[in-house]
Amino acid sequence: MKKITIAIDGFSSTGKSTLAKQLAKKLEYVYVDTGAMYRAVTLYAIQKGYIDENRFDSESLIAELDLIKLHFVFNPEVGFGEMYLNNVNVESQIRTLEVSQHVSKIAEISKIRSKLVQQQQEMGKEKGIVMDGRDIGTVVFPDAEIKLFMTASADKRAKRRYKELLDRGEDVTYDRVLKNVESRDYIDSTRTDSPLIKSENSIEIDNSDMGLEEQFERIYNLVLRYI
Ligand code: DC
Repeated sequence: MKKITIAIDGFSSTGKSTLAKQLAKKLEYVYVDTGAMYRAVTLYAIQKGYIDENRFDSESLIAELDLIKLHFVFNPEVGFGEMYLNNVNVESQIRTLEVSQHVSKIAEISKIRSKLVQQQQEMGKEKGIVMDGRDIGTVVFPDAEIKLFMTASADKRAKRRYKELLDRGEDVTYDRVLKNVESRDYIDSTRTDSPLIKSENSIEIDNSDMGLEEQFERIYNLVLRYI
């Protein structure tokens, strides 16, 4: 069977990673969550005290970029690669609202983007990969055979995210989550370097009212035409 590249972009909490994981499992492809990489750099900046509500010392962070080592380790129990920052498993720590609140600022920095994009291109050079993020079909793999652009209403996305955070035991309110979703949408789609935009040749999927199975069947049937 021919191996292809599947690029999935879209707004936060549109279920990109759920779909990507389902596809990767079915096709026996590698799955890469690029958001996790931006989140891990953000966690590093928080740990070092370079970013908080009041300040962002981007210069110190950029000066230490070579010290930030990121890699994924496949965990067969969960069925996907977990994020490691300097050899420590940070999969759970990168999903907090605190990290979500700062990550868009980190993702605006071109030097950080080019470092991560290079690593992502390296991971996908053999194809047989499903990668999700904001710039996968536009910047990382502009020649991907399949490009999906996922959307859903901000309210639906915030409700999903709110439930996830509550399930993880975080003390959050729906309003804070909705604000975070909306502000990330704004920053991600208006930044100068690699803004989140729908490329001309991508397929838009609005899953506000679509079940997971229906969504998967639709995309999987599309993939079958290419492999
Ligand atoms: O997919 P996510 O919500 O975990 O991503 C976290 C943030 O990282 C998101 O707000 C924007 C940024 N991001 C990016 O700029 N480019 C990517 N390819 C992936 C994520």
